[in-house]
Amino acid sequence: MKKLVISTGAGISAESGVKTFRDTGGLWENYPVMKVASADGFRENPALVHQFYNARRDQLLSVQPNAAHLILKELENDFDVRIITQNVDNLHERAGSTNVLHLHGELMKIRSMTHPERVYELTPPDIHTSLETRDSYGDPVRPHIVFFQEDVPNFEPATQLTREADIFVVIGTSLAVYPAASLLHYTRPEVPIYYIDPKPTIVTTSNKDINYIAKKASEGVAELAEILRKNYL
Ligand code: APR
Repeated sequence: MKKLVISTGAGISAESGVKTFRDTGGLWENYPVMKVASADGFRENPALVHQFYNARRDQLLSVQPNAAHLILKELENDFDVRIITQNVDNLHERAGSTNVLHLHGELMKIRSMTHPERVYELTPPDIHTSLETRDSYGDPVRPHIVFFQEDVPNFEPATQLTREADIFVVIGTSLAVYPAASLLHYTRPEVPIYYIDPKPTIVTTSNKDINYIAKKASEGVAELAEILRKNYL
């Protein structure tokens, strides 16, 4: 089976009702990103950061995967699908995708502040954390999220997956945040690239043709699935 590597951003979850970050009305319009999603912000006011991620977990419980997530799951019948997502939501997993690599962390997980290898899955209804929350060893915890100003430990494995891709797809990202935005440049020269986004950021630095599908994810992914099954099976 051909290796189909798919890089997704907030746009794939937009039709599920999850806010993107930089669209009109996006998350960063209502919250100062450096106060709620950066290492400095967490140091200065950890209680506010806990509250911010508690609110995002509450919202995540109220939404469902959309058609785009479900079609990516179905593509596993015909391709060796690897998803690399910037999203911290678990909608790819809830849609049934079996190979998901999170670059920026996972909203439903927390980790020990003193032993970062101790990662815990939050299960409803206990999905809120605070300064008082302790893990089973009595350690304070933090969201298992890559804050701005922190390294992206999964970027190296993501570049390896991208190098192995036979087909590379980008869905619903403004390509504004690095290193995630640079992933498409790690594809081998002959690998076709498809980019689904209603308002795609035109990629000028790539010496390769990008196949733009300027549509919302649910429509664009359906169209892409047809193109893939017609041309690459
Ligand atoms: N279908 C597909 N794409 C959509 C849809 C939709 N229905 N609605 C909006 N989009 C597109 C927008 O056109 C935009 O290109 O989704 C993209 C959202 O861009 P951002 O809000 O910048 O989200 P993203 O690129 O995922 O942000 C990257 O920034 O703040 C950090 O860690 C955060 O992972 C996030 C990273």
